[in-house]
Amino acid sequence: MHKNRVASVLAYHTRSKHALNRYAAGPGTLDWEAQPAAFRDWIDAQQIALPRDVVVSGIPWSALSAAHPSLPLNTPNLGSFLRLCVGLTAWKEYAGSRWSLRAHPSSGNLHPTETWLIAADVAGLENGLYHYQNLHHALERRAWGGESHPSGVWLGFSSIHWREAWKYGERAFRYCQLDMGHVLAAVSYAAALHGWKPRLLALDSDAIAGCLGLDREADFAGVENEEAEVIIALEPTDEILPSSWKHWAGEPGLLDPRPLHQWPVIEEVAKATRGLPPAAKAVTDFSIPRQYENDIRAAEVILKRRSAQAFDGESVMPRAIFKQMLAGLLPADLRCGGCGRMKHGYIRCYWCIALKVSNRACMCYPARRPQCFRYRRHSAIHSPGNLPILNCPCINWLQPKRERLRAHCLVIRILRHVAPSPS
Ligand SMILES: Cc1cc2nc3c(=O)[nH]c(=O)nc-3n(C[C@H](O)[C@H](O)[C@H](O)COP(=O)(O)O)c2cc1C
Repeated sequence: MHKNRVASVLAYHTRSKHALNRYAAGPGTLDWEAQPAAFRDWIDAQQIALPRDVVVSGIPWSALSAAHPSLPLNTPNLGSFLRLCVGLTAWKEYAGSRWSLRAHPSSGNLHPTETWLIAADVAGLENGLYHYQNLHHALERRAWGGESHPSGVWLGFSSIHWREAWKYGERAFRYCQLDMGHVLAAVSYAAALHGWKPRLLALDSDAIAGCLGLDREADFAGVENEEAEVIIALEPTDEILPSSWKHWAGEPGLLDPRPLHQWPVIEEVAKATRGLPPAAKAVTDFSIPRQYENDIRAAEVILKRRSAQAFDGESVMPRAIFKQMLAGLLPADLRCGGCGRMKHGYIRCYWCIALKVSNRACMCYPARRPQCFRYRRHSAIHSPGNLPILNCPCINWLQPKRERLRAHCLVIRILRHVAPSPS
């Protein structure tokens, strides 16, 4: 990345950090009545309803990372897959308000990530570019026709920064990147269940925008634009994907008719990070510990996933389960193939933070490589590898010096006491 662009990203990172004495710039107060629309419609685009059945409902959670037969790319299987990664999974209602929740978490439940699908030679679907409409679990046909296309299915993702900026101001770009990372994790789980091996394509931002029709400026005139993020090939295919469609249809719906603020730094940092992602990479880069008792179905876990909240201060999670959860965060390439625990050799890194639990430092966040901390576009894709949580008793711990550990604990306590959660 060019030096000036790096400088601009680092400057954004610094100014959009909360600090002990100030929050990053944001709107301050919120008019909840004027919240942007939760879903983007493509007006006048043909809608194709997707089958809702989960076709992989029998697979237990513990078998998620095992090899499963690759299911054919057809509409029932794609419908099942999309439900499990970006679909709606629940509705909540409180005090007259009603809102939906999805298979993946999202900062503020604002869901800035839009899903696109490019299909060529998919049984039951005309070749074309489609927008996935989460609300109706349907595809909206955006483009079709033209020359013959290489077969395959590609997923594209874009972010609508304004969804997050409406609530979080200048921090919106960060949240969009984090949400993108969560979506990719959800894709990896859902794809594994269907026996697919998704792979991030090494396309630059302009190419992605072109493939998804996000560069058609006239179509986005007067509405919130979408930032191109990534394209994934669902199955091993060429890097060449269909992009020259003959017909285009649909107009993007406006999400917020009365935006009250402007945060120009978001466009600046987005611009500075455009370019090539670090490298083409398999998305299924995870491993699930297998030693679960009371194993439950993976699809059930995914469809019932919820962020923890409203802690009652009394319920207790057994430490063994908590440790298993942490172990599940370790990326596959840092795990020992034999014992499944963190590989030796990756521990020799510097400590960033240590939490003291039960009289010993049992959670530590090391940096695998110092450069992992550089802020890069698409870093969310790699973040599990950058900050693995080490929580494995067989590890030859490099105990941080006692006084340093105390200092870390102190910092954490100060943060807890002084900084109320801004969300
Ligand atoms: C990047 C990110 C940051 C989040 N930050 C907070 C937070 O500060 N406080 C909180 O209660 N929830 C936080 N959440 C959880 C979201 O509020 C939650 O995912 C969302 O409301 C949807 O609920 P669900 O995860 O149960 O589907 C965060 C989620 C993400 C992905």
